[in-house]
Amino acid sequence: MTLLRKANLFTLVSMLCCALKFCVGGDVITATEHIQDPGSIVSSGGLYKLGFFSPNSSANRYVGIWHNKIPAYSVLWVANRDKPILDSTGVMMISDDGNLVLMNGKKEVIWSSNVSTSITNSSAQILDSGNLVLIKGSSSSVANDSGILWQSFDHGSDSFLSTMKLSTSVRTNEKHVFTSWESPSDPSIGSFSLSLELLNIPEVVIWNGSTLYWRSGPWNGSVFIGIYNMRSVYLDGWTLVNDKEGTIYLTYNFAEASYISYFLLKSNGIFVQPYWHEEQNDWQNVWLTRDSLCDVYGTCGPFGICDTNTVPICSCLRGFEPKNIEEWGRGNWSAGCVRRSSLQCERIINGRTKAGKEDGFLKIENAKVPYYAVLFSPLEDQCQKLCLNNCSCAAYAYDAGIGCMYWSGDLIDIQKFSIEGADLYIRLAHTEFGEKRDLRVIIATAVIVGTIVFIVLCFFWRKLKKRRAVRRRTEGEASLEVSGENMLGEKLGKANVQELVLYKLEELATATSNFSDTNRLAQGGFGPVYKGRLSNGKEIAVKRLSKASGQGFREFMNEMEVICKVQHQNLVKILGCCVEGDENIIIYEFMPNKSLDTFLFDPLKREHLDWRRRSNIIDGICRALLYLHRDSRLRIIHRDLKASNILLDEELNPKISDFGMARIFEGNEDQANTRRVMGTYGYMAPEYAMEGRFSEKSDVFSFGVLLLEIISGRRNTSSIEEDRSLSLLGFAWKLWKEGNALALADPKISVRRFETEVLRCVNVGLLCTQLAKDRPTIPTVISLLHGEMVDLPSPNQPAYTERQPIQHTDGSEQSQNRGSINVTLASIEGR
Ligand SMILES: *[C@@H]1O[C@H](CO)[C@@H](O)[C@H](O)[C@H]1NC(C)=O
Ligand SMILES: *[C@@H]1O[C@H](CO)[C@@H](O)[C@H](O)[C@H]1NC(C)=O
Ligand SMILES: *[C@@H]1O[C@H](CO)[C@@H](O)[C@H](O)[C@H]1NC(C)=O
Ligand SMILES: *[C@@H]1O[C@H](CO)[C@@H](O)[C@H](O)[C@H]1NC(C)=O
Ligand SMILES: *[C@@H]1O[C@H](CO)[C@@H](O)[C@H](O)[C@H]1NC(C)=O
Ligand SMILES: *[C@@H]1O[C@H](CO)[C@@H](O)[C@H](O)[C@H]1NC(C)=O
Ligand SMILES: *[C@@H]1O[C@H](CO)[C@@H](O)[C@H](O)[C@H]1NC(C)=O
Ligand SMILES: *[C@@H]1O[C@H](CO)[C@@H](O)[C@H](O)[C@H]1NC(C)=O
Repeated sequence: MTLLRKANLFTLVSMLCCALKFCVGGDVITATEHIQDPGSIVSSGGLYKLGFFSPNSSANRYVGIWHNKIPAYSVLWVANRDKPILDSTGVMMISDDGNLVLMNGKKEVIWSSNVSTSITNSSAQILDSGNLVLIKGSSSSVANDSGILWQSFDHGSDSFLSTMKLSTSVRTNEKHVFTSWESPSDPSIGSFSLSLELLNIPEVVIWNGSTLYWRSGPWNGSVFIGIYNMRSVYLDGWTLVNDKEGTIYLTYNFAEASYISYFLLKSNGIFVQPYWHEEQNDWQNVWLTRDSLCDVYGTCGPFGICDTNTVPICSCLRGFEPKNIEEWGRGNWSAGCVRRSSLQCERIINGRTKAGKEDGFLKIENAKVPYYAVLFSPLEDQCQKLCLNNCSCAAYAYDAGIGCMYWSGDLIDIQKFSIEGADLYIRLAHTEFGEKRDLRVIIATAVIVGTIVFIVLCFFWRKLKKRRAVRRRTEGEASLEVSGENMLGEKLGKANVQELVLYKLEELATATSNFSDTNRLAQGGFGPVYKGRLSNGKEIAVKRLSKASGQGFREFMNEMEVICKVQHQNLVKILGCCVEGDENIIIYEFMPNKSLDTFLFDPLKREHLDWRRRSNIIDGICRALLYLHRDSRLRIIHRDLKASNILLDEELNPKISDFGMARIFEGNEDQANTRRVMGTYGYMAPEYAMEGRFSEKSDVFSFGVLLLEIISGRRNTSSIEEDRSLSLLGFAWKLWKEGNALALADPKISVRRFETEVLRCVNVGLLCTQLAKDRPTIPTVISLLHGEMVDLPSPNQPAYTERQPIQHTDGSEQSQNRGSINVTLASIEGR
C-alpha cells in the first residue's frame, strides 16, 4: 500500500519534472529537442513565448510569438501565416539540412526557415527581444550577429517591435515590409503592407495592394512631418540609419525597458501603437495614423485639401475650383480641383502679349505636405526665389531638418492639421491676390441683401414658432403627469426615429450578462451604465434608469430629447433605446477609454496625456460646445460639464456625454431660471449655484474649471498642498498674480516646449471663471485659445477662490461617474 503510494508519488514528481523541463526549461529548439503542439519555448528572461495558437475558434493551428507574461496575448509574429495546420499534430523542429521547419502529422513541411546552405548542428532560440534566431551550433552563442543564419526580425509579420528594422536597400530597392493580417482572426497575408520608400526624402508608406493608402510625410531627421503627435514620452526616439551595406532602415527603442508596447499594422490598414495597460489589464492603442478619411491618400484629389474639422472634409485650395462640380457636390472628390487663373509661365508659353505680374504664394499653416517632394536648397530664404524661377514648381515648403522642398505637377494629399505640420506655400497667379477690393464690395452687397432677407424670414418664422410653442408646452406638461411611455413615444416621434434602434430588453440582458456587476462601467446620477456586447460583436454602453429610485425619469426623457437632435463628432452618439414595462434604457456607442477623469486624475495614466493630447481634448470640447451653443439648429446649455462627463474614444478624442440636465433654449431666450439647481459642486457657476440662473455663460464657467483641471491634472475638489485653504481656482489665481502661472501645469507636461500655449490656456481658464458678465463666450474662447487675438485680456479674480465645503459624500473615487447633486432652491426663491 505505502509502496504503491510512493511509486505514485514518484511518477507524479517525475512527470512534473519532465513537464517543467519541457515547458519552462527551454528557450531553444535543437536537433534533439523539438516542440510539439501544444508545447512552447520561452525566452530566458520570460518575456516572449513561441508556441502554437488558434486565432479564432477554429481548429486551425499556427506557430507564433507573443508576450509571455500578458494574459490578453496578441500575436506578434506568425510562421505559417498562409498555411494553417488543420489539427494539433504540428511539430516545430530542426530538419536534417539544419533549417527550422514546421511539420504536420503527415510529416509534410508546412513552413521552413528555408536557408539555402546546408548546415549541421544548428539550433533555434527565442530571445528576450522577441526575435527567433536560427544559429550555428548550440544555444547561448548569439554573442553577435555573425552566427545568425536566419531571424524572424528579418521576416516580420504585422508587428514592428523595438530594435526591428523597416529597411530598404538603396541599390536593389529590396524591402523588408510588414504585412497586415487578412482579418483580426485570420493571420494570412492581408492586403495592407508598410514599407519605407526612399524617393527623394525617406517616407513610410502603407499600401493597399499596390495602391498608396497612407503616407507619413518626409523624414526630417527626427520625425515624419506628416504625422502629428509622433513623439511619445516612452520612446527614446525613431532613428533612420544608413548602414554600410547600402541599406537604409527605420528603427526605434523604448526609453523605459519595462514599457510593453509595439507598433502594429492592423488588418484595416491603420498603423497603431498598442501598449499594455497594467491597471485595465488590457491593450490600449495610441494612434499613429488616424481612422479618418483625411488619412487616406488622395481623398480630396489633386489640389484638394482635407480637414477633419470642416464639413465636408474636402475643399479646393484657394485659387482652385472643382474639376467636376457635380461629382464634387455629391462628395466624390476624386477628380480634385483645377487652377482658376493661369500662372505667369503658362501665360508666357501661351504667347500672350502681356505676361503680367509675377506669381504669388498662398501660405497654408500646419499642413501635411503633398506627396513626393523634390529637394533643392538648404537655405530657407532661397526657397521662394528658386520656386519662382522654375516653371514646374507648384508649391514649396521649408523644414529645418530637410531644407527647401518643392513639388511639381499635381499636389496630392494635402491635409490641414490643427497643430504641428509644416508651412506650405502654394503658387498662385497674382490675380488671386489682387482682387481684395472688388471682393469687399461684393461681400458688403451680399451682406446687406442677406440681412434684409433674414429679417423678413425671422419675422414670419417667429410668428409661426410662437403659435406652435404654446401648443407644445401644454401638451408636454400634461403627458408628463399622465404617462411616461406616451411621452416617450411622442418625443421619439419628434426625434430622428429612422436612425434610432429600438432594442429588446432580452437582447440587452444578454449583451450585458443580465446587467451583471462585472459589466458595470459607472454609476451615473440616475442609474448604472453597463458595458455590453451585442450578438454581432458590437460593443455598446447601456444606461439603465434605476427603477428603485423612481427619480430621474425627467432626466431620461430630457436626454432622449436632446441627444436625438444633436449630432457631432465630439458628442457621444446614441444608438437606440429600450422601453419595456417599467424599464427605460438608453444605448450609446461604447467608449473604450472611459471618461477624462479616469485618465487625468490617475498618476499613471496621466503620463499618456502629453500636451498635444490635452490640447486635442480641449479643442474637441470647445468644438462640441460651439456646436451646442451656436451651430446646431437649437441652442443647448449642457449644465453639467465636468471631467467625468467627457468620454474618450480609442484615440483619446473627447466626446461630451450625459444630457440629462441639458436645456434647449427656444428662439432668442438666452438665460433661464430654475428652482431645481442640478450640477456638480466646483463646476457650477456662482450665479447658477446660488440663484439658479443659467445660460451659455454658466457652461463657460464649467469649461473654465475643466480647462484648469486638464492643465494641472488636479481635481477642482482636491486640496492644494501648497495652501490648503485655496481651491484650484484660487490656487491658479494666486500663481497668476505672482506671474508664475506655468507652475500650475502638470509636471507631466513638458512645459518648456509649449510655454505660450500653456500660459494662454491658464489665461483663458481664468477668464472663463470670472463673474458672468466678464466671461467670454465659446466662440471667443476658441479664438483666444487659437491665439487669434494677439493681446489676451487679463482675467479678474475668479468667482470662487476658497475651497468649497464638499457637499456630497464621495467615498468611491474609483466609480467612474460621480453623481451630480441636486439642490432645490425653493427655500431661496420661496414658493
Ligand atoms: C525556399 O526557397 C526557394 C527559393 O529560394 C523556393 O523556391 C522554395 O519554394 C522555398 N521553400 C519553402 C518551403 O518556402
Ligand atoms: C555536431 O554535434 C555533435 C554532438 O554535439 C558533435 O559530435 C559533432 O561533431 C558536431 N558536428 C559538427 C559538424 O560540428
Ligand atoms: C562574433 O563572434 C565570433 C566568435 O564569438 C568572433 O570570431 C567574431 O569576430 C565576432 N564578430 C563580430 C562582428 O564581432
Ligand atoms: C478562422 O481563420 C480562418 C483562416 O485561418 C478563416 O478561414 C475562418 O473563416 C476563421 N473563422 C472565424 C470564425 O473567423
Ligand atoms: C483596398 O483595396 C481593395 C481592392 O482595391 C478595395 O476593395 C478595398 O476597399 C481597399 N480598402 C480600403 C480600406 O480602402
Ligand atoms: C467620381 O467622379 C469621377 C469623375 O469625376 C467618375 O469617373 C467616377 O465614376 C465617380 N465615382 C463615383 C463613385 O461616382
Ligand atoms: C525645374 O523642375 C523640374 C522638375 O522637377 C526639374 O526637372 C528641372 O531640373 C528644374 N529646373 C531648374 C532650372 O531647376
Ligand atoms: C523635425 O520636425 C520637428 C517638428 O516639426 C522639430 O521639432 C524638429 O526639430 C525637426 N528636426 C530637425 C532635425 O530639424
